[in-house]
Amino acid sequence: MNYIDVEKLRDDFPILKKEINGNPLIYFDNAATSQRPKQVIDGIKYFYENINANPIRSIHSLAEQATLEYGKAREKVAKFINADPDEIVFVRNTTEAINLVSFSLPFKNGDRISTTYLEHHSNLLPWMRLKEKGVEIDIVNTNEHFELDMDYYKHIPKGTRLVAVTHASNVTGTVTDIKEITQLAHEQGALVLVDAAQSIPHLPFNVKDIGADFIAFSGHKMLGPFGVGVLYIKKEVSKNLGPFLTGGEMIKDVNMTKIVYENSPTLFEAGTQNIEGAYGLGLAIDYLNSVGMKNIENYEKALTSYLYENAKNLENVEVYSGKSKNFLGIFSFNVKGLHSHDTAYLLDKKGIAVRSGFHCAQPLIEERLKLPGATRASLYFYNTKEEVDKFIEELSKVAIKYGR
Ligand code: ALA
Repeated sequence: MNYIDVEKLRDDFPILKKEINGNPLIYFDNAATSQRPKQVIDGIKYFYENINANPIRSIHSLAEQATLEYGKAREKVAKFINADPDEIVFVRNTTEAINLVSFSLPFKNGDRISTTYLEHHSNLLPWMRLKEKGVEIDIVNTNEHFELDMDYYKHIPKGTRLVAVTHASNVTGTVTDIKEITQLAHEQGALVLVDAAQSIPHLPFNVKDIGADFIAFSGHKMLGPFGVGVLYIKKEVSKNLGPFLTGGEMIKDVNMTKIVYENSPTLFEAGTQNIEGAYGLGLAIDYLNSVGMKNIENYEKALTSYLYENAKNLENVEVYSGKSKNFLGIFSFNVKGLHSHDTAYLLDKKGIAVRSGFHCAQPLIEERLKLPGATRASLYFYNTKEEVDKFIEELSKVAIKYGR
């Protein structure tokens, strides 16, 4: 696990020094949101004390500085995923990014879209809603290891306009082969949207290599502020999309009879944006780059293997994640006989933060796993082997006392 100096990095995260219920915080809810380093927290304060103005519109010096910083943030995001800056649209989060595509692509009666059983609601509900327009939705199933049915993608039904798929499941940890899915979908003339909210924070990501048309992810899961996310739109595809929200700074010209719209990304950034959020996300990317995405991936892989190895012999614990060939640092489980909320409550008493319930993936948990909820520990690069040991120790106590 020598890929990163985790103790040194932890010093950058003030919240990790906190005590919760009299115990040192063990933050294992990273799939819900990550913690932020002081470089991001202090950077946002710096923004308001030194840069704050409304960019693009005003031309005074401070506004020009804000415009410059907003542009720099877009460049950092683009470089981080190997895209061009004008392929990066700032949005609120992954949910907004996917809704934008579902509204802005002109879907019509008889079109088909596919999504999957592995999805978080944000890559499910925006498509399901299009049923109201007569769009047919295919739900791709998984095998017993929670890997997607690749046969579906080899025979994508005619009329499929868009294939929507997660890169990594927030419940099972499954990493899907988005490069192969993209190739197969493109052969059938379908566009591809990837929900990368759970993957981009954890591994190197190259959009040019993957080839997908839309990539959605959130800043807050990768050390950035809440309220800022990204929609990558491949250059050649952006002209197929109409506006999403209309308002300030997204037009070339307007009079009382006509509107001439701007091109992407400006077209999709109507109104004053979350500039401080974009600035903070840029700082988060600087931080991730300084640690190294490959180092983060390797460290998390080693820590995840260590967790699974130690969880193997836990009595009265049922594990649902980590069954696919390729998976990320997600450990979803239940203490047999105990509701996930009770397990989360008992672990919280020991300072261990995990998520419980449906994880905004109710069809996967209810229909595929047949559960009323699951408990989930999700790791990031600032978590340690000692934290995993403590988690296993406390979980084992809960499972022996309350499980059956
Ligand atoms: N999608 C986030 C999670 O899995 C909120 O917890």
